[in-house]
Amino acid sequence: MEILTNTDVREAAQIILSKTELRPSIACICGSGMGNLVDILEDSFTIPYADVPNFPVSTVPGHVGQLVFGNYKGKCCVFLQGRTHLYEGYAPNKIVFPVRVLRAIGVDILIITNAAGALNETYKTGDLVIVKDHINIPGFCTCNPLVGITDESMGDRFPAMSDAYDAELRTLARKTATALDIDHHEGVYAALCGPNFETIAEARMFKILGADLVGMSTASEVVAARQIGLRCCVVSLVTNCVTMDYKSQEKASHNEVIEVGQSRASDFQKLISNLIGSVTATSRKNSKSNVYSSNGHMSTFSDLQI
Ligand code: HPA
Repeated sequence: MEILTNTDVREAAQIILSKTELRPSIACICGSGMGNLVDILEDSFTIPYADVPNFPVSTVPGHVGQLVFGNYKGKCCVFLQGRTHLYEGYAPNKIVFPVRVLRAIGVDILIITNAAGALNETYKTGDLVIVKDHINIPGFCTCNPLVGITDESMGDRFPAMSDAYDAELRTLARKTATALDIDHHEGVYAALCGPNFETIAEARMFKILGADLVGMSTASEVVAARQIGLRCCVVSLVTNCVTMDYKSQEKASHNEVIEVGQSRASDFQKLISNLIGSVTATSRKNSKSNVYSSNGHMSTFSDLQI
């Protein structure tokens, strides 16, 4: 397996930084059908993934494949319009390469959005879920983005994940959703490899294991992000309620995932933009990485401003 190194990360970061003077501290990875989140950015500037060495390009419809830099309420952000997934055949360390590059260009806070199926029967299609933890199923069996990384400058070899989903950001996301009157929950996300949707027996098993949601992305990115000290906030959109009854005629489909994403785009955009609007930058104190802390800045949160 090809392992991308810190040299590759630095090379990609330098190329990006040479193309724009914008220096974002907040990044957002847009999930399936959620690429329009970038519309909130002013003075935007776009870099196609294809122009950045080693950046994986998505093969999935609904994932454009570009970095969009811009400002929102005076805060410099970069949005990844399109992500890659294990089911596309990319190695886990390739999938998280953009996350490592984001850190290298100075990002401190990573917001991730995704589409997910609901296992929790109190959730309904269209609800937003602030993720409080994950179960990384592929990660149990060597399909983990940290496998093969021995270079300590890339972060701890054995990073803790007990605080993977930043408590302060979760509270802020919940308060933001409440203030905007958006139906939401807090739940556990089970990540699968995909691309097939789960069987009924699998869905029942994930539920017994404590998962509220199931999806095909995100966990690898969060694991890599935590290794290098990024603070993570993940918001899932329930695009379907997972079938757990053998008598049901319901069938999950990718088209439904995209359609629900589009139909809930406006609330999603409101939540993410208000979340970003509540972030302020202060100095970076507790970075675990001596390589990625290039600009000496870290973001924390001011009081909620909606
Ligand atoms: N299962 C897995 N991934 C998904 C689902 C699902 O039901 N919905 C959206 N992504």
